[in-house]
Amino acid sequence: MSESCPTLRRDGDQVVILDQTRLPHEEHYVHLHDLDSAATAIRDMQVRGAPLIGATAAFGVALALHHAADDDALHLALDVLRATRPTAVNLHWALDRMRAALAPLPPSARSAAAWAEAEAIQRDDAAANGRIGNHGLAALRPLATTGRPLQLMTHCNAGWLATCGHGTALAPIYAAHDAGMDIHVWVSETRPRNQGLLTAWELARAGIPHTLIADNAAGWLMAAGRVDAVIVGADRIAANGDTANKVGTYLKALAARAHGLPFYVAAPRSTIDFACPDGPAIPIEERAGDEFRLIHGIDGQGRLQSTRIAGADAAICNPAFDVTPAALVTGIICEFGIMPPDALASLQTP
Ligand code: MRU
Repeated sequence: MSESCPTLRRDGDQVVILDQTRLPHEEHYVHLHDLDSAATAIRDMQVRGAPLIGATAAFGVALALHHAADDDALHLALDVLRATRPTAVNLHWALDRMRAALAPLPPSARSAAAWAEAEAIQRDDAAANGRIGNHGLAALRPLATTGRPLQLMTHCNAGWLATCGHGTALAPIYAAHDAGMDIHVWVSETRPRNQGLLTAWELARAGIPHTLIADNAAGWLMAAGRVDAVIVGADRIAANGDTANKVGTYLKALAARAHGLPFYVAAPRSTIDFACPDGPAIPIEERAGDEFRLIHGIDGQGRLQSTRIAGADAAICNPAFDVTPAALVTGIICEFGIMPPDALASLQTP
């Protein structure tokens, strides 16, 4: 990946995003020019992944204030963006940071300050990613054995597509690869939206050996001794260490525990919600049934197509996330080190 953020960048008074709904089939960039286009990009998952959602929301505030910057415009922007996706707490963290920076200023000073604060959020996330990569590498090194690759498993996409830097769960994987470690990554497909395909696309570009698996294959691979550790990202970590991440994470954590495998969660401090006491208090997004009924791919002519696999009237339950209890988490890899999940209070700033 390039050193600047390829998923989200300022272009004058607009913002350019990489449209993740078209990946891995098409690399297509979209210009966001106002509050509504930023909110739509988050809601429709053109941008996705907790840290990137937060950064996009920050730029959404800057886009809104570029047009009008009085108190009503600021509060409208914060409210509209806050309502886009409920689970990733980085969204609220970024909007709170924007409000704290902008509300005390006179309207005439807000637009420039909003761009500056959004860019600072982006830089801070990239720096946190780098530190997560280094701390995670320290956790992976002792797991390596000579004579065969270290077998890692991940779920969803927590790489550079999902953040402003090298990713969270994938940052230690990139660091291990850069350090010359012999690794192989099992990438679970992540139904229904198939974010695993994004992870495979990232890893292929980096030349990191990996293999896609159906989500349901994870337990069997662990039972067969073909996995050494699991590492995933997070969308919201409660104060007690319970962790919300892409649906399917919980099953991997259960299987990892059953087979005595380390299960790491990698996330920046902005993903920890100290106001949320535990997993049951985390709001879990339920998305439209068509995400399940329709699958997307390319046809023989290379054109993006949708195919219906369930009837339009089929009853669907589509929770986008699940919660892994802290007791199943070996450690939370953040920019400050690897924390036991029951020791997050030490990261809380007064
Ligand atoms: O619904 P998504 O694709 O936004 O969900 C993304 C995830 O669950 C990621 O694992 C999480 O946000 C961590 S991204 C660094």
